[in-house]
Amino acid sequence: MQDELERVARLRKAIEDANKQYYELNQPHITDAEFDALLRELLALEANHPDWVTPDSPTQRVGGEVTKEYAKVRHLEPLLSLDNAFAASDLREFDRRVRQVVPVLDYVVELKIDGLTVALTYEEGFMVGGATRGDGAVGEDITANVKTVGSIPLRLNEVVAKLSVRGEAYMPKASFARLNQEREEEGQPPFANPRNAAAGSLRQLNSQITAQRKLEYFAYQVLAANELGLHKQTEVLAYLQQQGFFVNPEYKVFSDIEAVIDYCAGMAAERHRFPYDIDGLVIKVNEFDLQQELGFTAKSPRWAIAYKFPAEQVETVVEDIIIRVGRTGVLTPTAVLKAVPIAGSTVSRATLHNLDNIREKDIRIGDYVLLQKAGDVIPEVVRVLPEKRTGKERLFEMPDTCPECQSPVRQDEGEVAYRCQSSTCPAQQREGIIHFVSRDAMAIDGLGPAVIQQLLDAGLIKDAADLYALTFDDLTPIERMGKKSAENLLKAIEDSKQRGLAPLIFALGIRHTGEKSGKTLAQTFGSMDELLSATMEELQAISDVGPTMAESLVQFFSLESTRCFLAKLREAGVSMKAEKSSKPQIFAGKSIVVTGSLERWERREIENLIGEYGGKAASTVSKKTAFVVAGEKAGSKLEKAQGLGIAVLTEEEFEQLIQ
Ligand code: IVH
Repeated sequence: MQDELERVARLRKAIEDANKQYYELNQPHITDAEFDALLRELLALEANHPDWVTPDSPTQRVGGEVTKEYAKVRHLEPLLSLDNAFAASDLREFDRRVRQVVPVLDYVVELKIDGLTVALTYEEGFMVGGATRGDGAVGEDITANVKTVGSIPLRLNEVVAKLSVRGEAYMPKASFARLNQEREEEGQPPFANPRNAAAGSLRQLNSQITAQRKLEYFAYQVLAANELGLHKQTEVLAYLQQQGFFVNPEYKVFSDIEAVIDYCAGMAAERHRFPYDIDGLVIKVNEFDLQQELGFTAKSPRWAIAYKFPAEQVETVVEDIIIRVGRTGVLTPTAVLKAVPIAGSTVSRATLHNLDNIREKDIRIGDYVLLQKAGDVIPEVVRVLPEKRTGKERLFEMPDTCPECQSPVRQDEGEVAYRCQSSTCPAQQREGIIHFVSRDAMAIDGLGPAVIQQLLDAGLIKDAADLYALTFDDLTPIERMGKKSAENLLKAIEDSKQRGLAPLIFALGIRHTGEKSGKTLAQTFGSMDELLSATMEELQAISDVGPTMAESLVQFFSLESTRCFLAKLREAGVSMKAEKSSKPQIFAGKSIVVTGSLERWERREIENLIGEYGGKAASTVSKKTAFVVAGEKAGSKLEKAQGLGIAVLTEEEFEQLIQ
């Protein structure tokens, strides 16, 4: 017991350290697989000892709580909105009004993060509540979801009886781009911008989904700050940071409105350099005494104002609408635009997502349109300019056949997407190879889409498995492929053979099976062969696998084409086993039998543990059996072991061996 408790403490510390390295220092010092292993071990220990679970345990972040609807919570103090300023003159007017009441003061200028307000409550140092803004007076209780946000501390660095914190939850641009790409491939409607994506993610009824969405949080306000001895906004920001919150580091203090205006103009020009969306700046009177003197109007404080950046929209022409066929066969209509510079780059293509979106916005070929960048990254057609129509514009129709392979196209029931129905469509194959070599999959550097296209055109590859047969002489004739790059590419291809099972499963591009699922499946099954023969029931028994994914896996592995492809990979020497275990090989060379019904693990889990520690899980007891782990209602195998004088361990005894 004592050992286990110590182990729990050590695991929590190790996980917190890893989180810190990841979130604060951006330098992970352990791999994702190692991190998951620590977390799973802690989850297992806590499952056995529910009374050991503490509200700040890192296990509280993994999500899993599923709610039917959100409870309403009344905010301690209403969440107010701010007045907006759009021009220098608005800021000068604001300053004039302020100085009528308080002639001498400092302003703090903070970035206005484009997310959504989340109010947090801490009691005795622990996070106990998280709520949306709602109508300002009453919000929704989203505590379970808020706990999954890595940059929100579950425990403060110092114990405070009560603390109410406010800040902005947001989705970083990179997470937004990845999420929308996944959604497009799955035929789901994309989110319009990171703010909507963050809002949608926080309002998930299943907190596990929120956990996957990679949200972040910047804190900027505490209630009753005076009682904590804090007298200025700058002191609040320092205090929040000291308590373990993320505070946006870009804030600045000015005593003169002209300096504020210059700073705002500078930031407007630089707004795209941050890894998250900002839509302006917030200007606040620094001292709380002065804030109090200024007071509030009915809906906003007189001591603060939001300076909103002008929206960056440009006009251009939709010259054509073409179709891109993705990895899963989804046909995505894409606008070919007259090239225009916007938000730091020149844009000549914009995805139109799907036919519903085209019809809703009534986008026609030849239309003048307004273009902006969603989440600062993805070019998006905002609306058409009907006043510029000449009558020559043409309606777009979805083709009946795939433009790449002429196979029939169908709209699946309940989906917005149209799909090419062929499994041998060259576009799907090309996109499949692009996915196979991508960073989170087999990580073959130096193999971009253009090279892949040339290899396909030259008939050197038909599928990703053919990459492993490429030679130096195959590669050098490829455009812009020097000797050095060819050598590097061959080495990258060779190295990828040892990538391990989890990335390989992800690389296969099975529908509904993302990177994280690849890891779970690899850990659960240990080898491709085991996964290949898994049944619906076995798959669904895994906590992260739902019926849709289980069905998609069984279907995928039953295909003749899948089996052929895997056989080719195997022949090429691609490793189909889970990554080498980092565990001490205490069961090396030992054959171990598990029998009876276990409480602590699923059968497969304990068999995997045996494997991780170097042993072999066998199904029959013989003289060679090292020992038997017996659960409740063990029958003939237990008797046989006792007859042969073989050691029989309880689950607890087995667990002690692997501490
Ligand atoms: S202060 C009464 N600071 O912008 C003070 N707000 O209307 C209220 N926001 O809904 C907010 N970054 O969600 C403040 N550094 C920041 C902010 C910020 C983003 C959002 C907030 C609020 C809206 C202002």
